[in-house]
Amino acid sequence: MDVPVEVTPSTRQRVGFGKRLGGLALAPFHTLQILTGRKDFRNAVLGSERLNRKGLHVWRVKAAARVTEWRRKRLAHLVTPAERDFFAENGYIERLNLLGERQFHALVEEVEALRAPAREMREGGAVTRRIPLTPDVLRSAPTLAAFLRDERWTGPIRYVGGFDVEPVLSIQTIFGEPSVAKGARDPQTDLHMDTFHSTAKAWYFLYDVPEDEGPFTYVAGSHKLTPRRLAWHKRQSVLAAKQRRGGSFRIPLSALKRLRLPQPTRFAVPANTLVVGDTFGFHARGHSARHSIRVELYASQRPNPFLPFTRFDSAKLPYVSGRKEVISWYFEDWLVKLKLQRLIWRPVGVVSARESPPGR
Ligand SMILES: [Fe+2]
Repeated sequence: MDVPVEVTPSTRQRVGFGKRLGGLALAPFHTLQILTGRKDFRNAVLGSERLNRKGLHVWRVKAAARVTEWRRKRLAHLVTPAERDFFAENGYIERLNLLGERQFHALVEEVEALRAPAREMREGGAVTRRIPLTPDVLRSAPTLAAFLRDERWTGPIRYVGGFDVEPVLSIQTIFGEPSVAKGARDPQTDLHMDTFHSTAKAWYFLYDVPEDEGPFTYVAGSHKLTPRRLAWHKRQSVLAAKQRRGGSFRIPLSALKRLRLPQPTRFAVPANTLVVGDTFGFHARGHSARHSIRVELYASQRPNPFLPFTRFDSAKLPYVSGRKEVISWYFEDWLVKLKLQRLIWRPVGVVSARESPPGR
């Protein structure tokens, strides 16, 4: 049984002193995190209102952008000159009819036949399922295994992300739900940026994406660091520091005009289309008018943005290649066991990509 503690002024002083001492001990660690990908505003340095008023966050945004630009130049050969110009202007690359018809159908057939261990995450009424493409899974999927090494899709991911490294790969299924039906909002439908620096996310759509079934949406040009965008970042960072919250800033549609940005582009695209976006730009999942299923090969890349090397790849370590996603899940499980975070990605056993989750 807990013994009630009498809080006297001297107890308060001791607690305050203890807190300050703890803060001082952690200060070097918190300071070092300036040069990492840590995006939230919960530590004493990154979450300092005073430092962010002086421009700490804006400095991180600008410095990370400069390093990314430097790395990207070294990977320019991975996309065409026209794609480079288009990306510089819009923040994404789109490749229609990525594969020849025969290869595309063989790939879809293989994905449909595949049953493998998966995990799911629920956000509002939507469920995201990922089947990581580990070496074990790929052993029975030769077309998929060959495709994953294909530069037609790895090239744009490496260029946009600015790292010549193996991306995190999985078969992703989004089970969309009209938000009204479940009464729960999917936070992914809010326009947001993922973090304070460029990150690449890629969707290779295996089926047509209808306009009203939750297509990916992206605000063209919102990856650019304009003076208005930087001023917006400064305001957001001060607010986030005050509230000690996360760093995936959201923006209402109505605020885009003030940043001289257009309304989002909706990627209601045909099957066999690849879209690679820099998710520093504003993006969201479109609303779904009905139960919907979107199946895609999904890849992402998010190493430390301040790294000045293009080839610093953890996949070169033993066991890591093809398992970046599952390793991050093992790490999450461990943090959950230590009660340091809640479980986000729940194991759902062996399933296929299109099999409905329970309760749908
Ligand atoms: Fe996002």
